[in-house]
Amino acid sequence: MNRNIAIDGPAGAGKSTIAKRLAAQLGYVYVDTGAIYRTVGLYALRNGVDKADTAGLTALLTEIQVDLRYGPQGQQMLLNGEDVTDAIRTPEVAAYASSVAAIPAVRAFLLDKQRELARRQNVIMDGRDIGTVVLPDAAVKIFLTASPQVRAKRRWLELTEKGSRESYETVLAEVEARDAADRSRPIAPLRQAEDAILADTSDLNFEESVALLTRIIREKFAELGCEQP
Ligand code: DC
Repeated sequence: MNRNIAIDGPAGAGKSTIAKRLAAQLGYVYVDTGAIYRTVGLYALRNGVDKADTAGLTALLTEIQVDLRYGPQGQQMLLNGEDVTDAIRTPEVAAYASSVAAIPAVRAFLLDKQRELARRQNVIMDGRDIGTVVLPDAAVKIFLTASPQVRAKRRWLELTEKGSRESYETVLAEVEARDAADRSRPIAPLRQAEDAILADTSDLNFEESVALLTRIIREKFAELGCEQP
């Protein structure tokens, strides 16, 4: 039986930091699917293709080779052989990622890559459509969320620590715009799968959030009769 864990939710809900810790605890591979969309977004940005130019963005796919590599620092992203792990972490690339993610051809291009990773090993995979589209038969599905204000505050702190001078208001506006775009797109929109468990971390700190998800996973594995990892 597969024991994959799918975590979906809006930007800034803490998916990646929490999932990384859970993966270390469980001995799972952590797969950050947002990074894959960001890598495609970065290529579009660098090539000066307009975010609204669907045909232009789709045409780029023939030129792109996206690879994931797992090393001591976790998941690294390679774009045509270049390590872009850090370069994809900007708000500009995030906005591009959201645009390319709305294109059916882009999602189809990346779907097998994500499924293949989950076939090879136990993964804890985070994104927007993991429980609904990528791994519909994941053993555990969690929809992780928090209020837009809390998520924007966390993202703003993260960016500020990295030296960014963006204001909280700007970050909140970006978070809300990206949520709206991710939720309203016709293909694989951000939504809670029917069999996903909702976890709201608005009032929880990092350790409390990890404890909540650890409990959810344990209970689900017990219910399914799987051995605890
Ligand atoms: O999680 P993130 O901020 O790194 O994701 C960047 C963008 O990629 C996000 O706005 C939506 C998109 N995305 C997606 O459509 N499907 C996924 N499984 C993961 C991310």
